This record gives sequence, C-alpha cells and structure tokens, in this order.
Amino acid sequence: MTERLRLRPLIVEAAARLAEAGVGSPLPDAENLAAHVLGTERMRLALIPMVELEVADRYRALIEQRAARIPLQHLTGTAAMGEIDLAVGPGVFVPRPETELLFAWALGYLGTLTHDHTPIVVDLCTGSGALALAIAHARPDAEVHAVELDPDALSWARRNAGTRIAEGDTPITLYADDVTDPALLTPLTGRVDLVVANPPYIPDAAILDPEVADHDPHRALFGGQDGLDIIRAMVPTIARLLRPGGATAIEHDDTNGGGVAALLAAAGFTGIVEHTDLADKPRFVVAGTDHP
Ligand SMILES: C[S@@+](CC[C@H](N)C(=O)[O-])C[C@H]1O[C@@H](n2cnc3c(N)ncnc32)[C@H](O)[C@@H]1O
Repeated sequence: MTERLRLRPLIVEAAARLAEAGVGSPLPDAENLAAHVLGTERMRLALIPMVELEVADRYRALIEQRAARIPLQHLTGTAAMGEIDLAVGPGVFVPRPETELLFAWALGYLGTLTHDHTPIVVDLCTGSGALALAIAHARPDAEVHAVELDPDALSWARRNAGTRIAEGDTPITLYADDVTDPALLTPLTGRVDLVVANPPYIPDAAILDPEVADHDPHRALFGGQDGLDIIRAMVPTIARLLRPGGATAIEHDDTNGGGVAALLAAAGFTGIVEHTDLADKPRFVVAGTDHP
C-alpha cells in the first residue's frame, strides 16, 4: 500500500523551516506552495487531509527552494493583478500586492468617465503587462497601450498578452520603448485619459530582501540616487500625453511621496493626492490635468 502522510503537520513543519530561513510570510507561503503542488487553491487545502509520500517529497523540495529565498511566485510561476493571473519568472519583475491599490484606483477613475469616447489608457514600465492587462480585462471597451524597455520583460509581457487574448480579452498594444524618451508615443499626444505607472523607484543605496535583490531585474528596481530618475523623466511626457481632464497614478518608494507630488505640481498637474498602501505607507500619487 502507498505510504501517505498527514498534510497539516507537513505544512506546519514547512512554515517553521521558512521562518527559520527568514522568509517574511512563512505560513502563507507554506500553504501556497502546498496548494501549488496539489493543484488546488489555498482555501481548499483543508479538504485534502492526507498526501502521498511522493507529493510530500516534491513539496519539501519546493520548500527548500523557498528557504533559499527564491520568490514564491517564481516557484508557482504566477502572480495576480486584479482578476487575472500573469506568468512570471526570471527576467521580469513580480507584480506586488500594493500595486493592486493603484489598479483599483485606476478602475474607479475610468468609471467616472463619460461614455462619449473610447477610454485610452497608457501603462508606462509595464513589466509582465500586469496593470495594462488587468485594466484591459476589467475594461474591454478601453484602448490600452503599454511600454517596456527590457527585452526579457517584454517577452513575458507578450506571453501574458497572448494568454489574455486567448481568454477573450481585448488586445493591448505593446511598445518596446524607453519611457524617458521625450518623443514617446507621439501619436497619442493630448488623447490619453489615464496614464498608470509602476516604474523603477527604489533609491540606489537601499538594502533589499534576497528575493528582490537576487531575483527581480535591477532595471526594474532602481531609480537613481533619490529613486526619482525615471519618474522625473516621465512626468513631462505624461503631461503631454494626457487630454485636458485626464489623470495619472504613479507608484513610488515610501520615502518619495512628497518628491513625486512636487514633480507633478511643478509640471502643472492639479488635484494631487497621495495614497497609502496596505502597510499604511505612502505608495502612489494621483493627479489630473485641468478640464478645458
Ligand atoms: C517596478 S517594475 C514594474 C512592472 C509592472 N508595472 C508591475 O507593476 O508589475 C518596472 C519596469 O520598468 C521597466 N523599465 C525600467 N526602465 C525603463 C525605461 N527607461 N523605459 C521603459 N521601461 C523601463 C523595467 O524593465 C521593469 O519591467
């Protein structure tokens, strides 16, 4: 008879191993990896009291990889944004839960627009395509454009865009381009309703967890000495792209809310509001262009 083990003690043992290795969320990660190995959802683990020895072995091997501080999402191969899952792995930034708040704000903003035209949305620094594809999924009526410079990240974005098209979402337009180029997306000048951006914004000297420092691409992380280099270069372009009455939402380092707000104010934006994240830290700034 095949040997079987009780699942819950295995998970508890795994969580202890992850805690010992310094993983920040040991029990959720142990449960998520168990769900991944068993091909189920975390909330349904209680329905699986016993597992075969071979499954336990595979689970323990994954736990050892996580204990070596490989990101959870590289082990499961996916990360969520809004209602969609994105394929992620080496070469692309793993979308973070805090960006969900910017995404929710963006959907709320799009919901306030009148229906006299197709909403046009631009996602600068799209990475895996997270914000652009989640917006296209939630708002199939929108025309969504997304810009990314890094070839590896672009491959992941193309893969995710293809998956979303296969699932029936409205296609987005992906551009291999540099968001610091003052001529970016010239044909969209003055036509865009909403620009969202989660750019590289970490100050160069910041000390990061191994999951981030060793696995997220450095181009996705660092924004120069004060973390504002990319944002500083993007702001005039955002101002040019937006139509009168348009809006932008920019994620930033928790040390930089005031810095981003000041850049937007200097570029003539109005209605500048700072938003905090789930840990109550300053995380994204929204601003608008005046109505005609
Ligand atoms: C923090 S990641 C965010 C990715 C995605 N928006 C998300 O929320 O998951 C920043 C992304 O900006 C890209 N990037 C960095 N510099 C860029 C530039 N000058 N032009 C375009 N993309 C750039 C990086 O390659 C990376 O994919």
